[in-house]
Amino acid sequence: MSGFDGRFFEAVASHAGAAYLRYSFTRGTEQEVDFLWDTLGLRAGARVLDVGCGPGRHVEALAGRGAEVVGVDISETFLRLVNRGHPVRADARSLPLRPSSFDAAISLCQGGFGLLGGVDDGLVLGEVAGALRPGGVVAVSAFSAYFATRHLEEGERFDADTGVNHERAVVRDEAGVEREFDLWTTCFTPRELRLLAAAAGLRPTGLWAVAPGAYARRAPDLDHPEFLLVAAREAR
Ligand SMILES: C[S@@+](CC[C@H](N)C(=O)[O-])C[C@H]1O[C@@H](n2cnc3c(N)ncnc32)[C@H](O)[C@@H]1O
Repeated sequence: MSGFDGRFFEAVASHAGAAYLRYSFTRGTEQEVDFLWDTLGLRAGARVLDVGCGPGRHVEALAGRGAEVVGVDISETFLRLVNRGHPVRADARSLPLRPSSFDAAISLCQGGFGLLGGVDDGLVLGEVAGALRPGGVVAVSAFSAYFATRHLEEGERFDADTGVNHERAVVRDEAGVEREFDLWTTCFTPRELRLLAAAAGLRPTGLWAVAPGAYARRAPDLDHPEFLLVAAREAR
């Protein structure tokens, strides 16, 4: 991972563009937002931050329900596809946002959190905590280390030291042109997620086993690809 700078996905996004939205894992947006709307206690007018928003599928669904959404991403290509809310180009490790100005935040499907080589994920949670008002809530999805190692596919290499899974993935652009990219996905255990949250001043209120488009209050297990951490910014 020499030369790794935590921004590798920018090149993937530039190539994929709107074709990203053809991947099956993006089809569960409405179910995910229904679940989060209820779980995070959102209402029309709530100020919501989406960190690593990609082309803005959750930004648009939340804005459609009346939330005021700011979507942050490093990819200019993806941000140009965001049709609602307020897109902001920034690195999740350094958010140029007014402190304590959001009621809620989300970071889903490795939106910055989980794509940083296993080193800076705590930094991202710290930035998110700083953007939330005291008592504000956050939902972060993260790839499961249990699932990744149980279902290691040919060509994937899971680094036991950092918890980062490496693969070479073929990505298609809108015209169907294929290019191969290195993908580094950091994987987590529920205990790590709770510890990272606590270190960032966030009090975990829920931690569930989920899959894209199948968010539910399900106890952590070995069988689902992701965990969903829900936490609240400490009031003090
Ligand atoms: C797999 S996509 C997920 C996008 C969106 N959250 C979703 O659920 O479809 C990961 C996103 O994280 C963004 N990203 C990766 N590293 C980032 C960083 N360091 N800071 C901000 N965004 C980042 C990528 O550009 C990409 O849009």
